[in-house]
Amino acid sequence: MTTGVVNEAWVKDVWGKIVAKVERTSKRIGDSFPYASVNGTYYSESNDWWTNGFWPGLLWLIYKENEHADFRNIAVSVENQMDETLLGYEKLHHDVGFMWSLTSVAQYKLLGTEASKIRGLMAASHLAGRFNLKGQFIRAWNGENQQGWAIIDCLLNLPLLYWASETTNDPRFRHIAVAHADTVLREFIRPDGSSHHIVCFDPETGERIEARGGQGYSQDSAWARGTSWALYGMVLSYKYTGHQRYLDAAKRVAHFYIANMPADAAPYWDFRAPVEPETAFDTSAAACAATGLLEISRAVPESEAYIYSEAAKRILLVLTEQYVSWGEDEEGILTMATANFPKRAYVNVPIIYGDYYYAEAIAKLRGRTELFW
Ligand code: GLY
Repeated sequence: MTTGVVNEAWVKDVWGKIVAKVERTSKRIGDSFPYASVNGTYYSESNDWWTNGFWPGLLWLIYKENEHADFRNIAVSVENQMDETLLGYEKLHHDVGFMWSLTSVAQYKLLGTEASKIRGLMAASHLAGRFNLKGQFIRAWNGENQQGWAIIDCLLNLPLLYWASETTNDPRFRHIAVAHADTVLREFIRPDGSSHHIVCFDPETGERIEARGGQGYSQDSAWARGTSWALYGMVLSYKYTGHQRYLDAAKRVAHFYIANMPADAAPYWDFRAPVEPETAFDTSAAACAATGLLEISRAVPESEAYIYSEAAKRILLVLTEQYVSWGEDEEGILTMATANFPKRAYVNVPIIYGDYYYAEAIAKLRGRTELFW
């Protein structure tokens, strides 16, 4: 049972705890690539992993307020180490948005670093180059026989394209983002606001072949983090384009999320998975939904904004009271996230994107409006 109330003092207290925790953990994590926390310690990935933006993103989020030199140095070093991946080309995929929005775009927005702008534009060019003209989608991964696969997560990569168009004063990148977002609207998001994870197209003709369950329970289920990618991704596309259809879609997904979220717990990893004693939670889905709901609350008329802001506050209260760890025995902030339940990969542990979205949502409650996305 939650007991607190989200007010100014609560937000100040939580933000202070986030900053204090990151000050402490950054001394051990340094410029590595934390992904998931195992037995209280963040395990580091290689420099090509798709989540590598979230740790520097978290540091930049805090740096924007306190200009902590250590945080800047770590974030810059992580970004520099990712050059091998950017220039190596072969390990790049559609997640260049996750990777370089929170590193290079963030650094460029905060410090105006030219080299970071170039990295961001190179990543955006790669993303644009993955567009399949016939099917009007951005290819997801590089796997064998996956030339026609697109996934819901890619909506969070589109802001890199919107940013590139704004930065170069060239609409090409935005045209591709809009074409992909329209395909997602048509082929992924169901009338009830739930979403497919993967949709496969014929890469030659562009015709839809089938939907797949992917990281969800089944083809017709509702993977919780996929729901959050759809919610936040659609409202971000609205923010950059002003197209009402994206805001309407974000609201539809939000209503599905709100109707299905437990009042006093994190969601299970899939809203339609059978609930059994070992069914895993996914707090990262909740944190991403919360920051997305706050974005919707800013986009809609005041008369309806409270629906979304109250739902976001409810989520953040539940996360903070039941799932956050401020202790020294755990490096992660948000416990009980699940990376990939069908593969039993990192189940019910802190994962770096959960920490990032949680902190981003709290920053928004403090009034932060500029995003790195
Ligand atoms: N983008 C992959 C995931 O959400 O796990």
